[in-house]
Amino acid sequence: MKINEYDYYNNLATWSFNDIHFTEELFTNWIYEEKIKEHTNEFSKILDLGTADGEKVLKNFPDCAEILGTDFSVEMIKTANQNLINSGRKNITFRVMDNLKINTPDNYFDLVTARHTKIDPTQIYKTLKPGGCLILRGVDKLDCWELKYMFRKGQGYKDLKPISLIDYENILDAGFENVELVPIHIREYYRTKEDLLALLLKMPILMDFSEENENDNLKLDIDMTLLDKYINSHKTKKGILLIRRYYGIIATKSK
Ligand SMILES: C[S@@+](CC[C@H](N)C(=O)[O-])C[C@H]1O[C@@H](n2cnc3c(N)ncnc32)[C@H](O)[C@@H]1O
Repeated sequence: MKINEYDYYNNLATWSFNDIHFTEELFTNWIYEEKIKEHTNEFSKILDLGTADGEKVLKNFPDCAEILGTDFSVEMIKTANQNLINSGRKNITFRVMDNLKINTPDNYFDLVTARHTKIDPTQIYKTLKPGGCLILRGVDKLDCWELKYMFRKGQGYKDLKPISLIDYENILDAGFENVELVPIHIREYYRTKEDLLALLLKMPILMDFSEENENDNLKLDIDMTLLDKYINSHKTKKGILLIRRYYGIIATKSK
């Protein structure tokens, strides 16, 4: 199977995490949704980049003056608009836009959010109001590292610089102030092999997604012998352990 990143996400448009059974333990007190609530009020205008099917916005974002969710995947935005109708929420719009070709007005949003998606900090800076804020969460190089190391491949596996550092430096270079990078450590426990496999087939953990190289030849094949080896050495009473490493960044545009 050879696909590019756009097709990869288009194919995921009607898929939901609810189908996978897992529990999680948080080791870091940095909760993305809480940070969004802390940085908004009823008058806020929010832009959510790479919003996918809108699920996170519709469930977790606070009521405020305006929320625009964008994604480059036409299929994702179709699903997001359907989910919006079903949710009955107000002041939310979804539309197609490439994060790397932001065409929203300059100096307009109080907050730009981006969770597990590509960003261009310079374009985000332009569309933020002076004093506006960027909150992002990303998947770091060391995410699921034991698994990726066993397979000798995966998201960010070959990157020399961790994605978190690339984002952090690009955000500083774009002119942001008070930039804070926080490592996020989470343990996930998958109920069965099928649950873990479903995750690996749907998320790009074992795909060569990279921040440094073009992703136009994504290939996914999973060596089941290696997967069984991983599962046998990571079985716990709580389920099959997968150690996640994310990062959060908060940054402000100067007033
Ligand atoms: C892993 S999903 C994250 C979705 C959502 N933000 C969340 O946290 O659940 C990544 C999303 O970013 C979108 N995406 C990736 N690159 C993009 C780009 N250059 N412009 C716009 N959307 C992009 C994909 O289509 C996909 O919906």
